Amino acid sequence: MNVAVIGAQWGDEGKGKIVDYLATDAQIIVRFSGGANAGHTIVRGGEQFALHLVPSGVLYPDKRVVLGTGMVIDPEALFDELGMLAERGIDWEGRVMISDRAHVVLPRYRALDKSLEAARKRPIGTTGRGIGVAYSMKSSRDGVRLADLFDDRLLENLEDDDRAFIAKWRDRLAPLAVDLTHYLSGHRNTYCLFEGAQGALLDLDTGTYPYVSSGMSGAGGAATQGGIGPRRLDKVLGVFKAYSTRVGNGPFPTEFDDGSQSALCQFIRDTGREYGVTTGRPRRCGYLDLVALRYACLANSIDSLVLTHLDVYDTLDSFEACVAYKVRGGLVEHFPASVRDLEDAEPVLRTFRGWKRSLKDVREYDELPREARDYVSFIEEFTETSIDIVSVGYDRRDTIVRRSPWTRS
Ligand code: IMP
Repeated sequence: MNVAVIGAQWGDEGKGKIVDYLATDAQIIVRFSGGANAGHTIVRGGEQFALHLVPSGVLYPDKRVVLGTGMVIDPEALFDELGMLAERGIDWEGRVMISDRAHVVLPRYRALDKSLEAARKRPIGTTGRGIGVAYSMKSSRDGVRLADLFDDRLLENLEDDDRAFIAKWRDRLAPLAVDLTHYLSGHRNTYCLFEGAQGALLDLDTGTYPYVSSGMSGAGGAATQGGIGPRRLDKVLGVFKAYSTRVGNGPFPTEFDDGSQSALCQFIRDTGREYGVTTGRPRRCGYLDLVALRYACLANSIDSLVLTHLDVYDTLDSFEACVAYKVRGGLVEHFPASVRDLEDAEPVLRTFRGWKRSLKDVREYDELPREARDYVSFIEEFTETSIDIVSVGYDRRDTIVRRSPWTRS
């Protein structure tokens, strides 16, 4: 069975924890997009791991993990991360593979990423890891894939520095390369997780363009860039937080303002540890945007939602969520493509009562306070999608499963 786990907001929804949790029952975990711009945090038994490139399942000694076709791989970042894992007792040798169709991020791309960003009148807020440039090179058919590392005819097109860089890393990369489609076709009867990076609203096509990342973060990416094709994807899980965050620039209709909401913003940021794993930047915070979430569900055929960070609201008397926008006086109930509309959108908010108690030790859905269940039910009705998993803390144990994701929809 093949299950995709994608972010249903602007990234940082807690996918790392959820993939780690679900990986108990999976044999193979494939990360299908992005590069070292992403950051997945996993807390296990009080120990914290920050992963950027390697799929979250690597922490289990018996799982195989694959960096998929849609990923762009910075070899320095990758081997730093693998070195860190080895130092911390995670034996990855023989278990980490890379699609031979994945592209390599060359050092020059990072510098170019930064200079392109500096020249923009309205910067995107990129992580500066060369990701956008790697995807541009891929689209313009000037990129370098793992499969081509020893093809001197293709490498002839590269500049000397790039060729020297490839020569330095290819002997270490080559043993990890795998033909992903062929590999997965030989494992049809296994449980396989397809792990997304970033989120639906940062996807190049469905996101808030141009304030997006350059990869396919949505469910479409799981199918084509995960190597299996669309009809073999059995289920799509969309992970979202009880509130919204965004790093970098771009429209964010429910963002807390700097005035009356600044204390609330800081509270959410500190309680939810809303600081970038890759850049350390404080994340922008706001209430849950249900218009955006419903759009993410539709654009990605999300079968089942995973609600995370619900415990961050534990001490609040009340909180709100956005159910529509007012754009220049008119009511808008769907998520607009236009950045200008999104920037002008004022959220129409609905108020919810808080539960004023800790959710940390709750393990059964029925044990959640009524107010928390009311919030969950409202989201389900609004998005017409069931919430099958609720996360109430960082640790793998702090998870309530209402319906196993390993059941077909
Ligand atoms: P880039 O992917 O580094 O070019 O960044 C483009 C935009 O995506 C910026 O706003 C980044 O902050 C955002 N971004 C990239 N990766 C992540 C992520 O893993 N989480 C949240 N935002 C991200």
